[in-house]
Amino acid sequence: MTTYNIAVIPGDGTGPEVVREGRKTLDAAAAKHGIGLNYTEFDFGGQRYLRTGETLPDAALDDLRTFDAIYLGAIGHPDVKPGILEKGILLKARFALDQYINLRPVKLYPNVETPLKDKGPDEIDFVIVRENTGGIYTGMGGSTMVGTPFEIATQLMVYSRPVVERCIRYAYDLTRRRNRKKQLTLVHKNNVLTEVGDLWVRVHREVGAEYPDIKQDYNHVDACTMWMVKSPEFYDVIVTENLFGDIITDLGAIIQGGMGIAAGGNINPEGVSMFEPIGGSAPKYTGQNVINPLAAISAGGMMLDTLGEHEAASSLDKAVEAALSSGRIKSMAAGRMGMGTSEVGDLVASLV
Ligand code: IPM
Ligand code: MN
Repeated sequence: MTTYNIAVIPGDGTGPEVVREGRKTLDAAAAKHGIGLNYTEFDFGGQRYLRTGETLPDAALDDLRTFDAIYLGAIGHPDVKPGILEKGILLKARFALDQYINLRPVKLYPNVETPLKDKGPDEIDFVIVRENTGGIYTGMGGSTMVGTPFEIATQLMVYSRPVVERCIRYAYDLTRRRNRKKQLTLVHKNNVLTEVGDLWVRVHREVGAEYPDIKQDYNHVDACTMWMVKSPEFYDVIVTENLFGDIITDLGAIIQGGMGIAAGGNINPEGVSMFEPIGGSAPKYTGQNVINPLAAISAGGMMLDTLGEHEAASSLDKAVEAALSSGRIKSMAAGRMGMGTSEVGDLVASLV
């Protein structure tokens, strides 16, 4: 039996509740497919920071590197200044573990409400590959003459060719594996970002020559936000740089039904990847058994898929789909599901 060692960071707010349901359904899928999952919990998050001043210590990173994957609930605490936990835990893990892909499937399941008029599951089913360690997130730049009328602040969109290339290559491979429309849309802004945009366009074209079966397509990011709303069925796989990806993946999340259902993976294809519901810690719903665990459950499915357990991942995805098809979950919104957090977990687990 293959056994995977999973580092679990339940984190803050409703993180622990959704992680509990995620583990319940992961265990059901693992049992069905003869896989072992060995969990080790870590207490990183706002509580620990307030207690000790520590976010994600370097020694912990060394520890995390020894695991097969990381399963994260949510990071964010109302008593901690914005930015500290995001930078200290989430971004630090992404950078230190070189999780250079942020993978965000945008899939509308049956009976899930989308704000897009006349669009259903047939029209909303694509994947966004966001570059996850470069660009403006690199943190290069600085400020000068602070406090004077001529104060200057810069943050640079930094990209090296290898960082662009590995991301685009991952996206081509994924488009081929998905085997749908076989179309990879590069999203950038090369009408204005003529330097960094041009690098992305050239690499997209050059690497694409190795994938003659994949159609190459390009959208400016501003136009992409319109097309995602007007004609989401047009997309198969989108690849984009970090900040544009941050923005369009939130648009993707809302058209697939919102934070209750949107899952993401921070992936190092050669290393340790981290999977999370993208919804945040939702402090006001903490401990009430009302938060939607489906995003965390789907993040668990992505984790199985990335570990190479495609059948177990597919069982879990089908169970989520069946749970939603049953019509028993009334809404994706916290408190309006018509059942509790743990009941949604039980339902999915029973359908695996
Ligand atoms: C995300 C989040 C993070 C980001 C924040 C919390 C640092 O918005 O995962 O999309 O900007 O990448
Ligand atoms: Mn974001």
